[in-house]
Amino acid sequence: MTVAALELAQASYSYPRQEAPAVDRVDLVVEPGERVALVGPSGCGKSTVLLLAAGILVPSAGLVAVGGVTVSGLDAAKRSRHRRESMGVVFQFGELVAELTLLDNVALAGELSGIRRRQARAVARESLDRLGIGELANRYPGQVSGGQAQRCAVARATVHRPALLLADEPTGAVDRANGTVILDELDRSVLEVGTAMLIATHDPDVVSRCDRQLVLRDGRISP
Ligand SMILES: Nc1ncnc2c1ncn2[C@@H]1O[C@H](COP(=O)(O)OP(=O)(O)OP(=O)(O)O)[C@@H](O)[C@H]1O
Ligand SMILES: [Mg+2]
Repeated sequence: MTVAALELAQASYSYPRQEAPAVDRVDLVVEPGERVALVGPSGCGKSTVLLLAAGILVPSAGLVAVGGVTVSGLDAAKRSRHRRESMGVVFQFGELVAELTLLDNVALAGELSGIRRRQARAVARESLDRLGIGELANRYPGQVSGGQAQRCAVARATVHRPALLLADEPTGAVDRANGTVILDELDRSVLEVGTAMLIATHDPDVVSRCDRQLVLRDGRISP
């Protein structure tokens, strides 16, 4: 029996002072090497599911397990360590470190996962090149476009070839051609190491490249 890359079991989450839960008793499993699209209208809870999976939020009920480790039972320090080592996260709003160049943003994620510095810089450079932003490697996030920053965020999330990749609208800020470049980079990780992916998206191109889709509505998985 293989261990699921990601499992949510009856996971719920309510933001402080909100009556309705943002995520309501969600069950989902993503197997190693599987690409799952998470779709549904704005506000249905996609980003919240990803934040629960990443261990950034902790469910108010139910559990979240990544690679067989119940992250929802770990303290914050252990959750962030598990995230750095075995997950890559592309946030909906980029969230690159403003004080670091694009190259350093990507290389740092590699180093934090345990890759040696020289190797991390080399693979970071290759990834930026493949994503078409190699020439911007020494710029800071504030000096590039939204779509270029988004490609950098994809490089940062995949540089260490994580077991689980969580991506929130990874093609939301780019044109179709660069969307394909991003999806190719994500697929490279799937092919090389069997990365499992959960991708929140409104983009039909992304859905069609995934193995299956899950539909969320008002915080619940639709049948
Ligand atoms: N920080 C927050 N505080 C309070 N409520 C929040 C917060 N973030 C999200 N919500 C609410 O939780 C629900 C789910 O939000 P979420 O961001 O997960 O939706 P989403 O599916 O990612 O939407 P979108 O497609 O617009 O990105 C929404 O009703 C939203 O208003
Ligand atoms: Mg969202």
